[in-house]
Amino acid sequence: MEYMRTVDLKDGRKCTLRHGTGNDGREALEAFIQMREETDYLLTYPEENTSSVEDEIAYLEKKAGSEREMEIVAEVDGELVGMAGISAVGDSFKVRHRAELGISVIREFWHLGIGRALMDACVECAKDAGYEQIELSVVADNERAVTMYKKDGFVEFGRNPRGFKSRISGYQELIYMRKEL
Ligand SMILES: CC(C)(COP(=O)(O)OP(=O)(O)OC[C@H]1O[C@@H](n2cnc3c(N)ncnc32)[C@H](O)[C@@H]1OP(=O)(O)O)[C@@H](O)C(=O)NCCC(=O)NCCS
Repeated sequence: MEYMRTVDLKDGRKCTLRHGTGNDGREALEAFIQMREETDYLLTYPEENTSSVEDEIAYLEKKAGSEREMEIVAEVDGELVGMAGISAVGDSFKVRHRAELGISVIREFWHLGIGRALMDACVECAKDAGYEQIELSVVADNERAVTMYKKDGFVEFGRNPRGFKSRISGYQELIYMRKEL
């Protein structure tokens, strides 16, 4: 799927949101690892990454050519500072209406409106792709993310008290959220 939009950030800078392409492979992989070094709220640790730059290029090219999935990158002053994606829960008829959402922003660029802009872009693309529901899971302590999703109309539909087991904080409760499109 393709996407392109420019938004104004809270500090006056511009942020370009666009679908990622193979050309973003190296920077996207570096950002992916950096984001996992900067927060304990994502699924994996940095050293658990098994993708090479070539894998990332192939991944982004596949998403750019897909009609149902996409990866959006956020750029500020030419630097890749955030990523978000929608992926299908499955291809079988009974779950074709459901998409999953994931978002991450490099810490130095938090609080500027990039997370919200990425979320809005994903919701818009999910609608355009024909999905009827968008879903996510979020660590309950991740106040910024939970607030952001709630403000946008995501509603909680369950919790897993032992969803993640963090090396730092032990069990992390996961909240499951969904939004009807
Ligand atoms: C969650 C995350 C994507 C938010 O990105 P961001 O660019 O900082 O988000 P924004 O600046 O657009 O702010 C989004 C919303 O967060 C909420 N928020 C901002 N600051 C907050 C604070 N101090 N406390 C609680 N909520 C806050 C607000 O609802 C804000 O919306 P508003 O600006 O309309 O008021 C980012 O913090 C991140 O990448 N975290 C690490 C990875 C992660 O947790 N991803 C989500 C996994 S489910």
